[in-house]
Amino acid sequence: MPAHPARVCARDWGWRHAGRKGFALSGLNLTIEPGQRVLLLGRSGAGKSTLLHALAGVLGGADEGEQHGRLLIDDEPPAAHRGRTGLLLQDPDAQIVLSRVGDDVAFGPENLGLPRDEIWRRVADSLRRVGLDIPLDHPTSALSGGQKQRLALAGILALHPHLLLLDEPTANLDPAGVLEVRDAVAAALEATGATLVVVEHRVQVWLDLVDRVVVLDPDAGVVADGPPEQVIAAQGAELAAAGVWVPGHHPSPVRGARNVGADTLLTTDRLDVSRSRANPLGHQVDLTVEAGRALAITGPNGAGKSTLALTVAGLLRPVRGAVRAADALAQGIGTDPLRWRSRELLTRIGTVFQEPEHQFLTPTVREELAVGPRALKLSERDIAARTEELLDRLRLSGLAGANPFTLSGGEKRRLSVATVLASRPRVLVLDEPTFGQDGRTWTELVALLESLLSDGHAVVAVTHDEPFVDALADTVLQLPAYAGSGAAR
Ligand SMILES: Nc1ncnc2c1ncn2[C@@H]1O[C@H](COP(=O)(O)OP(=O)(O)OP(=O)(O)O)[C@@H](O)[C@H]1O
Ligand SMILES: [Mg+2]
Repeated sequence: MPAHPARVCARDWGWRHAGRKGFALSGLNLTIEPGQRVLLLGRSGAGKSTLLHALAGVLGGADEGEQHGRLLIDDEPPAAHRGRTGLLLQDPDAQIVLSRVGDDVAFGPENLGLPRDEIWRRVADSLRRVGLDIPLDHPTSALSGGQKQRLALAGILALHPHLLLLDEPTANLDPAGVLEVRDAVAAALEATGATLVVVEHRVQVWLDLVDRVVVLDPDAGVVADGPPEQVIAAQGAELAAAGVWVPGHHPSPVRGARNVGADTLLTTDRLDVSRSRANPLGHQVDLTVEAGRALAITGPNGAGKSTLALTVAGLLRPVRGAVRAADALAQGIGTDPLRWRSRELLTRIGTVFQEPEHQFLTPTVREELAVGPRALKLSERDIAARTEELLDRLRLSGLAGANPFTLSGGEKRRLSVATVLASRPRVLVLDEPTFGQDGRTWTELVALLESLLSDGHAVVAVTHDEPFVDALADTVLQLPAYAGSGAAR
């Protein structure tokens, strides 16, 4: 385990990403003492991930941007500590490199050129620390989301890090997975004493584990700093107003009048789904999608929620049973959404995938929003009107000229939801629409969906976000854990 935990020091530090006019962060002054556990907060786009990436030593090439001031780990530039700082990201799948559990954990230590005995000692030790008691040859693809995050954490611990950097490590997990990861981090800290910086919008999970909360603002630097209870008591309301999710200050959206006659738009008949056709989930789902109603699909990681959503959206072929569009939706083009042409689908069913990057097609945020309206052959004036409204409501106006791939996590998510809203499809199928959102952008998103519901659109949302379900859902379909993959073992 590390010889000593890291000390982090930022002095008038700032970073401007290449291609951006403004600095993502500027004038940052912050010292984190060895062994401190810091929860880093701030609204979406505040520069949290930028700071973590800089500390991990993966930002810094002159072609990547411009740096001001100094950012140091133990009085040296972060790049000198690469390999001893561990960065854990929010997407469980993005961080698993190899197909077997043991090899995946061994990957980092192998790159450090350690002797074989030492590598495998570290692998066993790290897996034990994160509570993953599975054979070393277990396939990584068969792990649940929470297990994958713990595996990625084990890979980091095997490097004997002196600084742990966690960027929304539980954002994509179901409630059980969230606790698994939190407990694994707690055990790792107990054993290593490493310094911790964790970013997470929903702070409740981490409050008991951290001893300090730091709130970042892109222009003002650190706007709050202190022990969690103290910061929340003294500045809770102010921080909530600025978009930070603060316990006791959660937004409470108002439900609109959904008085629209409840036309049935889509039904499913004993529907079973699968991505590979080889492993049907064994469901018999009968659901009804009605105008002006929101249906939430919930359930543990790996339960098949996304697959069900894509099938309902007419993008995947059912394994058994059927999806049928009612006349109110189909309007004369047949009842099977799979057979509709993409332009016909555009105004009828719009889908936001779980991974926002899969959807971006153009070099700027503004053009991206115009793709749907253009395919619908709207006038330039109407296209501009729709685009500007969405940019404004989802706080993307300042990013209209930015490349979609360079947005922050929360900004990407808002853009991918907005691109679908721009075509105003009657049925919106949204896979985790709120992930990565701060309190303000979350409230805007909910209000926008609420107004679409009042106008007779329907929402089908796959989500782990309980406040979102409470705010919006008329019906909840809870899928059971998928028994067939061994994922939940
Ligand atoms: N690679 C990049 N190139 C250009 N701009 C970037 C890049 N990465 C981030 N940005 C911009 O820098 C700013 C800060 O982004 P960052 O990802 O650090 O925010 P964040 O606080 O992590 O936000 P979120 O809560 O949404 O994840 C944002 O305006 C973002 O659009
Ligand atoms: Mg981020």
